[in-house]
This record gives sequence, structure tokens and C-alpha cells, in this order.
Amino acid sequence: MTGGTAVVVLAAGRGVRMKSALPKVLHAAGGRPLLDRVLETAVAVLARERAGHLVVVAGSGREDVAAHVRRAAPSAAVVLQHPPRGTGDAVRKAVKHFGNASRVVVLSGDVPMLGVRTVRALLSRLGGRDRPAIVFLTAILDDPRSYGRVVRSRGAVTKIVEEKDATPAEREIRETNGGVYAFDRPFLQSTLPKLKAVNAQGEYYLTDLLGLALAAGRRVVGIPARDPDEVLGVNSRGDLARVDALLRRRATRAAMAAGATLVRPETITLDETAVLGKDSVVGPFATLLGTTRIGEGTHIGQGCVVKDSILGRRVVVKPYCVIESARVGDRAILGPFARLREGTVLAGDVHIGNFVETKKAVLAKGVKANHLTYLGDTTIGERTNVGAGVITCNYDGFTKHPTTIGKDVFVGSDTQLVAPVTVGDGAIVAAGTTVTSDVPAGDLVLSRSPQTNVPQGGVRYRERKKKRPGKR
Ligand code: UD1
Ligand code: MG
Repeated sequence: MTGGTAVVVLAAGRGVRMKSALPKVLHAAGGRPLLDRVLETAVAVLARERAGHLVVVAGSGREDVAAHVRRAAPSAAVVLQHPPRGTGDAVRKAVKHFGNASRVVVLSGDVPMLGVRTVRALLSRLGGRDRPAIVFLTAILDDPRSYGRVVRSRGAVTKIVEEKDATPAEREIRETNGGVYAFDRPFLQSTLPKLKAVNAQGEYYLTDLLGLALAAGRRVVGIPARDPDEVLGVNSRGDLARVDALLRRRATRAAMAAGATLVRPETITLDETAVLGKDSVVGPFATLLGTTRIGEGTHIGQGCVVKDSILGRRVVVKPYCVIESARVGDRAILGPFARLREGTVLAGDVHIGNFVETKKAVLAKGVKANHLTYLGDTTIGERTNVGAGVITCNYDGFTKHPTTIGKDVFVGSDTQLVAPVTVGDGAIVAAGTTVTSDVPAGDLVLSRSPQTNVPQGGVRYRERKKKRPGKR
């Protein structure tokens, strides 16, 4: 009968090799911080346990780390390890939070691709008849540098040796320590105080527990990971880029498996949180981030960036649009080169053309704004047509003001709407007008300086210039 499980997530290391002000575990891969991924695995492991305790060991940047933990795993305890004196010392700090646990899982905050099933396999091996003291994950890597090497004698694990402490012969070993362990709790708790910091880094290595277990006649089992990617640790920016690429490849494969067409998928950047509908088509070099959802049959053109936005069905987004925190209705047509900013809400059949920027703009069904326009803090009614070069002057240098345009309005090109201002249903705004006060429904509004024609003035001007090009 087991008494429950504790999971410790190690996140207190300095992450020196990242050369960063941000704690290593908060760097993102695949659009999410490394720590969030490990916490998710930890929570999933404990979800099946009768009694579970989650402990995160934080050190540098612990405020930021604690904030992440509160969001991703609110029930977790956060303990401080300062200064970071090694992985063994880190686990020591967590012991007082193990409760009644009879087994302890240790995860590294910088090993983000680990799967729940793999952790469960370690736990089930720990419960084997031979009662191992330690079960840990290994992987055969082509490039084992920067990992601890697993030294075996006649198949049985004898120790883990860190790269910095290894002999040249040990460095040739390609079986590495994945930094993921399941421990028998009584063994762990009684043996942690015996660790010594006698090694190249002057740290208390968790991995030295192997030797202490074997010396006490206990069993130690190293289980090779089925997928070696699961043990990839992030210690440098290079490692981060590699893990990021793998996670994104996973995301694009999942999107295609769910029925989306990705054109040149190797060039597309997809967060795994973005969802693509069936028969959506995404062009090369597009980037889809955050909570973005793309409806069925919607096309995203080459080079578009879409973040935290919801697009309906059969929307066409032509190349090089940037869309952030916006909602777009069915069959809308956007771009090329359109920019939809936060708070943009477009109903169905809206057309937004090239070099049009929208911010907090709520456009009803069928509105068209096809060329060179800024719509900020604006509400527009159904079927209204906004001509080229229309600008809502929403900012007076101090505060933002709203512009409200009714339905079936025609706003001529090069109009400025000086907010706050309202244009009623069915009004016509003549090209070149500066609208400074409200326009009642059905009115025609125009403000223009009178035009002067000088008969044959153009001809005379050219002749003058030909004779004396420098003179005005
Ligand atoms: C560690 C293992 C190595 C293994 C590798 C797998 C040891 C001694 N070495 O090496 O065998 O192959 O992971 O990825 O355990 N941490 C703390 N406090 C500390 C030191 C580290 O919380 O004092 C945390 C780090 O934040 C990190 C994890 O423990 O999340 C691993 O530490 P790191 O310094 O990256 O160890 P590695 O050199 O990768
Ligand atoms: Mg590491």
C-alpha cells in the first residue's frame, strides 16, 4: 500500500549558460514557458494519485517563478533555495512538504518535453517487487555533451557522472541521465543529508544518491526513454531553439492531422494553443500565436501574423496582415497588408483592404474599408462604405474619443472625422471633408475650399520653367 506521491520540480538553478536576466525556466519554447510545461506534467501525474503534494524549488527570480506557479498549479508549495548549491541541495529544501508521501518524483524545470506516461512508467517500476530505491530516466543521445553520463557495469547502473567530472572514457558514453527520477521516500529522506559537495562544481549532486543506494544494497534502475526527445534539457539558447523547433513541428503536424492544409509547414510558426479548423489553409511563413482560433475553410495568406484572435469560417486573409486580439466574422476579406489591433470586432462579410489599420473598431456586416485608412475607437453600421484615406482623428493629444457612423453611409475618400463625432444612417460625406460636428441621418456633408482654375496657366508655367529653371 503506498501512502501517496510527492512531485518536486527543480527550478532554482542560476541558468548561467543562458546568459539571461530572466530565470531559465521562464524562457518559452513552443510559445509557453518551460516551467509551465513541467508543471502541467506534474499536475497530470498527481491527478491520478490518491494523495499528492507538489513542491516547486525556486531561487533566482523566485517572485516571477512563484507567480507562474500560482497560475499553473495553484495548490503547489514554493520553497526557496538560495544560493543554489546543486540539485541534491534543492531536493533537501522540499522535504518538509512531502506530507505522507511514500514516493517522490523529481522533475527538472528545464526538461520541458517529458510526457506524463513516462513518469507513470517510472513510478510503476518503483513499485516493483525488487523495491528499487531509485528509478530514473535515461536516453541515448547522439550528442550527449552537457548531460550526466550513465555508467553501467554488466548492464547494471553503477553511477551517473557529470560531464565536468567525467574521464575521457566516460565522456564517450552516449547514455545520458534525463534528470527525471522516482525515489523511495524513506531512502531519499534518510540519504539526502549524506550528500557531499566533492566535485568539479562544488555542488550537492542529486545523482550521487545512486552510489549511496548501491552502497546500502538497494537497487537502482535506469529506464531508457522511448522517445529520446523527452529528456532534452535546456541549458543554453541553442538548446532552447532546438526544443522550440521540435514543439512547433509537433504543433504543425497536429494541425495537419486535424484537417488543415499548411503550405510549406516547415516555415510556419504555430503555438500549440492555436487551433485551426478543418480545410483551413495557411500559407508559407505565417505565424499563428496564443489563443488564436481559425474557422473552417479560412485562408491565411503568406507571412501573416495572427495572435490571440478568433477568425470565423471562410475568411480570406491575404498576405502580410498583422492581426492581434481581434474577432473576425465569417467570409470577411482582409488585406493584403492590413493591421487589426486590439478590440477590433468585424462582423461577417466585412472587407478591410491594404494599409488599413483598425483599433477598438466594431464594424457591422458588409462594411468596406479597402484602402489606406485608420479606424480607431469607431463603431460603423451595416453596409457602410469607407473610402480611401479616411482617418478617424480619435486622439486630441490627451484622451481618446469615439467616432460613430451609422448604416448605409458613404464616407468619401480623404475624409477626416474629428472625434467625438457621429454620422447618421444613410448620410453622404463628400470626398475631402473634415467632419467636425455631428451629421444627421440622410444629410450630405462637405467642407471644401473653393477651386480656382487659371485658363492655360499650366502651359504658361511650363514655358517659364523651360526658360529659367531656377526661378520660381
Ligand atoms: C542535471 C543532472 C545531469 C542530467 C541533466 C539532465 C545533476 C547533478 N546533473 O544537469 O546528470 O543529465 O540535469 O537535464 O543533477 N537546480 C536547482 N537548484 C540548483 C541547481 C539546479 O533547482 O542548485 C535546477 C535547475 O533550475 C534545473 C535543474 O535543477 O531546472 C537541473 O539543473 P541544471 O543546472 O540544469 O543541471 P544540468 O547541468 O542540466
Ligand atoms: Mg539542465
